[in-house]
Amino acid sequence: MIISRAPGKTILFGEHFVVYGAPAIAMALDKYVVVRISELNNNLLEIYSHNIGLKGVFDPHSLKPKTPDLEALQVFSPIIKAYELISSKTGNRPGVRIEIISEIPMASGLGSSAALAVAVLNGLARISRLKLSREELSQLAFQVEKIVHGTPSGIDNTVSTIGGFVFFQRRDDKLIVKPINVALKLNLVIGCTGKTRSTKDIVERVRRFKNTYASIFNNLLNAYNLIAEHAFQYLREGDIRRLGELMKVNHGLLWSIGVSSRNLDKLVNTALEAGAYGAKLTGAGGEGCIIALSDPDMLDNILKALGSLRMGPVFKASTSTSGASVEEV
Ligand code: PMV
Repeated sequence: MIISRAPGKTILFGEHFVVYGAPAIAMALDKYVVVRISELNNNLLEIYSHNIGLKGVFDPHSLKPKTPDLEALQVFSPIIKAYELISSKTGNRPGVRIEIISEIPMASGLGSSAALAVAVLNGLARISRLKLSREELSQLAFQVEKIVHGTPSGIDNTVSTIGGFVFFQRRDDKLIVKPINVALKLNLVIGCTGKTRSTKDIVERVRRFKNTYASIFNNLLNAYNLIAEHAFQYLREGDIRRLGELMKVNHGLLWSIGVSSRNLDKLVNTALEAGAYGAKLTGAGGEGCIIALSDPDMLDNILKALGSLRMGPVFKASTSTSGASVEEV
């Protein structure tokens, strides 16, 4: 059996401002999508998700469900696309059973769909004895992501593949993505509101704000650029306290451009009161999750405080330094 793992991600600094050319920093989380793949003799493609308790059985050649099952076809379409991409490279369509277990909340800006794509592709490549470079793996996951997101940015698949800290910036419609080599592990508590939101709508909300208040927006963007500059420095120096302070300021800017919410603010303020160095919303905002940065000895306190708000998932997470991995057991 093959066990393939790929991490989720969080944006530490720069969501929304990155749309207008500012640099941003993402980090791979030690929370994974885990995929178990075994070969089957019955020439079927079986997919099972533990999280949603859904099973789908497909013909590996037509890629149609064996029994009419629209839900399975829709939910598992990224996995079927991944299967198709790998088999078009190998020329084989083996019978396999793919089991998925995810530790990452879905549709919360934590990169769960990219992690799923990376883990399935990496596992299928291994079972088919296909060698993929990290670059190829990430590119294939990007193609799978297009089914889920339409126009993905390319950040999630990159971070999930290579792990660690990642710099990204948009220049003339191109995304520049580079690993940031720091030997640091950040201790976070992640708290989610339990509600989902459409990234497209929130990005549009920011565009309206920018159009209405152009010079105010530009000054906020300049302020963010200074935050990013310092954040890179503190990351290299391992200055957690100052990174936390900058997270607070970054959250304030995101609040100012209208992408926070009462629930997100409540999570941020509760984390700060419980001893975090800093906290901010992560991802598109509106709803979704916050990250709180802290010393290891305050993590439980923050976890408890956020949990007592009874919103959505709350959990500890740290840096995944290694990215996607696959093993045969
Ligand atoms: O919520 P996520 O992780 O998909 O992040 C969205 C990041 C934005 O800056 C809001 C949008 C983008 O395309 O960069």
